[in-house]
Amino acid sequence: MRVLSGIQPTGQIHWGNYFGAVRQYIELQKHDAALYFIADLHALTTVRNPADLRRNVTNAALDLLALGLDPEKATLYVQSDIPEVAELTWLLMTVTQMHLLEKCHAYKDKKAKGIAADAGLFTYPVLMAADILLYDSNLVPVGQDQIQHIEVTRDVAQRFNTIYEREVFVLPEPYVVQSLAKVPGLDGEKMSKSYNNTIEVFMEPKQLRKKIMSIKTDSKGVADVKAPETCSVFTLFKLFASEDQQAALAAKYRAGGMGYGEAKQTLYDQAMAVFGPAFDRRAQLAASPDTVRDVLREGAKKARVKATEVLARAREACGLGGR
Ligand code: TYM
Repeated sequence: MRVLSGIQPTGQIHWGNYFGAVRQYIELQKHDAALYFIADLHALTTVRNPADLRRNVTNAALDLLALGLDPEKATLYVQSDIPEVAELTWLLMTVTQMHLLEKCHAYKDKKAKGIAADAGLFTYPVLMAADILLYDSNLVPVGQDQIQHIEVTRDVAQRFNTIYEREVFVLPEPYVVQSLAKVPGLDGEKMSKSYNNTIEVFMEPKQLRKKIMSIKTDSKGVADVKAPETCSVFTLFKLFASEDQQAALAAKYRAGGMGYGEAKQTLYDQAMAVFGPAFDRRAQLAASPDTVRDVLREGAKKARVKATEVLARAREACGLGGR
């Protein structure tokens, strides 16, 4: 089983990224080959300041390592350190049908809002297909919003294989944990940087508390009976808590006598308990930037071996080189 996934360095990792994807990266890293990368080429569609991009890449690496990504088990690299991915993107682009890309939501949403899209945003899913196919990936751990892109990847891979009459590419499957696939944000919508409703994993305690206290709830008073099923505070608490802890908090909701402030405090305490150790690890790692740089350099070296092999296979299939 070859596992692969990527995350964009567009800001700080939030709870949606962690529960929807990163937690699964860590769980799956014991597989023979687990490759995880920081998608800086994708981030160029939104981050247009070079200093910001560089800083974001380092921060993403620190976040992943602090959360438990183990470079002894998994390969961690930066997307643009493997130039083969750009060449494969072009080869795939030549067999990608426009209608596949026209229905992809990132592009469709922007167009619906009347915002002009760049070719980079439009062809974003093809670069993603190259990311996945370049390493013969079988399994791609992601949140729900990326499933469509993996379907496009399969379509493009299949079309390439059909046109060139050989099994050049392996067809990948998404790996999605249903209960974690769409983590809600402060307003109850999907947590996303573009909706400005995120809770970041690595925040100073005071800031974290303030954010948690701002989660939207209904206007029921302390004495009122409340419904845990429809409450964002409870939905977020479930991400962190054992069955027993969930049952205990749910009972308090249903009994009445507990205000949302208290539920939020419970969520805060739980988040601090779960992310506290990673917070300290991150500070330690940040103090040795050479270590992080070495991890990324070694990761790229390892990833590139496979990338070179698969790109050669694709080039050969379509008649490039070999004269
Ligand atoms: P990105 O950087 O937006 O998100 C990284 C991962 O976090 C998941 N995620 C969520 N999961 C559950 N609930 C949420 N609210 C939530 N928000 C984000 C995403 O589904 C994703 O798994 N295009 C990708 C990066 C990428 C990639 C790839 C992924 C580039 N190439 C190849 C897999 C394979 C992206 O923008 O993810």
